[in-house]
Amino acid sequence: MEFEQARAVVDELPGPHIRAHRGRMLYDHITRWRPTRVLELGTARGGSAVFIAAALRTNGAGRLTSVDSCRREWKEPSAQETLKRAGLADLVVLDRNFSTYTWFLKVRLEEHLRNGGEPASTYDLIFLDGAKEWSVDGLTVVLAEKLLSPGGWLVMDDLGWNYEEHSYGPWHYETEISELSETERRTPHLRAVFDLLVKSNPAFSRVIDEDGWWGWAQKKQAS
Ligand SMILES: C[S@@+](CC[C@H](N)C(=O)[O-])C[C@H]1O[C@@H](n2cnc3c(N)ncnc32)[C@H](O)[C@@H]1O
Repeated sequence: MEFEQARAVVDELPGPHIRAHRGRMLYDHITRWRPTRVLELGTARGGSAVFIAAALRTNGAGRLTSVDSCRREWKEPSAQETLKRAGLADLVVLDRNFSTYTWFLKVRLEEHLRNGGEPASTYDLIFLDGAKEWSVDGLTVVLAEKLLSPGGWLVMDDLGWNYEEHSYGPWHYETEISELSETERRTPHLRAVFDLLVKSNPAFSRVIDEDGWWGWAQKKQAS
């Protein structure tokens, strides 16, 4: 499926969703690296899922699992409706079984370890676009690395996002903003996650900081 067809569907969606130029980055990455087991953490109305699944359709192989919280239901449209509209629903499994994707990752890690670390129970690409909060996403990147296949990529959106400048209203997902310290409100949490937990992790052989907002990390190839 051409990128522009995916873009036309996403352009019609209300937020939140990644912008088209970020969708293009994901699409181009997937058509270049050809991951077949793709995981997205943070579905919302399915905008980024459309870009990912469109690239998988172009490749002729691969499936996306996209995870969101059971606490939240996005409507008008739902992710399921968006994917149907794009003709991509057959390539995507939507998972809202748990309140947080860290629990989804825990369950996957248990399966992975039970299978003796089978490569079949890993992901070739994990796209994180969710809470943007240190406690949640700090744990998320630790778990995600364990579930990445050798040579697989972790991609993080929103590295520069902080509560003070970028959130609206008293809550951002599960975080009550007035309960945070000033430092916690002003500091971009994902920047800290990327700099302190991803860049320093020797399991990653390549780390790319793209325009201060997107982070890419490739897990070492098997030796
Ligand atoms: C920015 S939106 C995702 C946008 C989507 N990736 C796109 O571009 O179309 C962030 C999503 O993360 C979800 N989310 C936030 N914290 C979460 C958590 N701890 N566990 C699961 N989902 C979470 C929210 O419900 C929301 O749907």
